[in-house]
Amino acid sequence: MKTNKSILTDTFGREHTYLRISLTERCNLRCSYCMPEEGIFLSPKSHIMTYNEVYTIAKTFVDKGVTKIRLTGGEPLIRKDIPIILKKLASLPVELTITTNAVLVDRFIATFKTCGIKNINLSLDTLDKKKFNHITRRNYFEKVFENIQLLVKNGFTVKINTVLIKGFNDNEIVDFIALTKDLPISIRFIEFMPFDGNNWNISKMVSYNEVMQQLSVFYSDERIEKLQDASNDTAKNYRIYGFKGTFAIISSVTSPFCDSCNRLRLTANGRLKNCLFSSTESDLLTLLRAGKSIEPIIEKAVNAKFKVRGGMDTLKKLQQPKLHSQNRSMITIGG
Ligand code: GTP
Ligand code: 5AD
Ligand code: SF4
Repeated sequence: MKTNKSILTDTFGREHTYLRISLTERCNLRCSYCMPEEGIFLSPKSHIMTYNEVYTIAKTFVDKGVTKIRLTGGEPLIRKDIPIILKKLASLPVELTITTNAVLVDRFIATFKTCGIKNINLSLDTLDKKKFNHITRRNYFEKVFENIQLLVKNGFTVKINTVLIKGFNDNEIVDFIALTKDLPISIRFIEFMPFDGNNWNISKMVSYNEVMQQLSVFYSDERIEKLQDASNDTAKNYRIYGFKGTFAIISSVTSPFCDSCNRLRLTANGRLKNCLFSSTESDLLTLLRAGKSIEPIIEKAVNAKFKVRGGMDTLKKLQQPKLHSQNRSMITIGG
């Protein structure tokens, strides 16, 4: 049996059992809150982890107590070797999950099942086709919507990530929640967060409080049920009484949940980020390729983790562009 000693624990006592692995910096959509308008400087292919490297690094984390791995991107399903990666990671004793934009999901239903994937998180920011085309700069609304239904039909647990942006989709909150009347899915409204090149401004963000205020116009307090959140959940979960699905708010800006953080991130080019907002990274891939042990550098990175949002512990600090522009753009972190 594992003792707590082998788990990656930071100076605040947080145990890191959840690894998010970004598999690619590329995406088949161009969401403006994620991908800078001018595009990004892509790492050369030789700098991106191969499937064997992904597996070897993931295994090291599993040996150090990681029990959940989420694959992200860019868009993870556009990697040609994604079936191999999924099969290799499925051989580890972890809960394997994925966050996708859902465009290609229909091609992978059987693979997901073989690999024991049960939970899929996907992005959908609007229910209006024109707005979808505008924000993603691509024309896949119907495909994404069909794929959501396909996942539900096939028994997957589906969470939809909706990044709220003022004046763009904040008038759709009630429409999204209406979807949960008959569909057993969770809609998660996300406060828009600042990353390099995404033109973030606090005035574009729709806060947790604003979502609840808007809701109270349509649903009386008695109809809104607060659900128990899982211990490391990013989301505050709710249900409208009698609805099949649920909704939630991910409030990283106005009410961060860093106290219960159990997450580490590995970028597609093999760098470890100890926080979504970290401005420093540890290069695991170069060490691995040099035949050296990556464990000491992992432990050092965990020890150096800040208490809140990579050191941006106040709203004032989060609003200083100089601080978040030292981070990557979201497309190369993977959320
Ligand atoms: P579950 O495993 O279902 O809890 O999903 P998740 O919330 O970990 O993952 P997902 O990839 O669906 O991310 C949803 C949103 O939460 C995205 O906007 C992420 O950027 C954000 N998010 C995920 N993990 C963290 C985190 O550790 N810190 C912060 N601040 N936001 C996070
Ligand atoms: N702020 C908040 N969430 C974001 N995502 C992407 N960019 C941002 C941002 N700037 C979300 C997407 C995706 C998840 C991994 O991260 O909804 O589903
Ligand atoms: Fe963890 Fe950083 Fe996210 Fe806070 S902002 S929950 S410390 S990853």
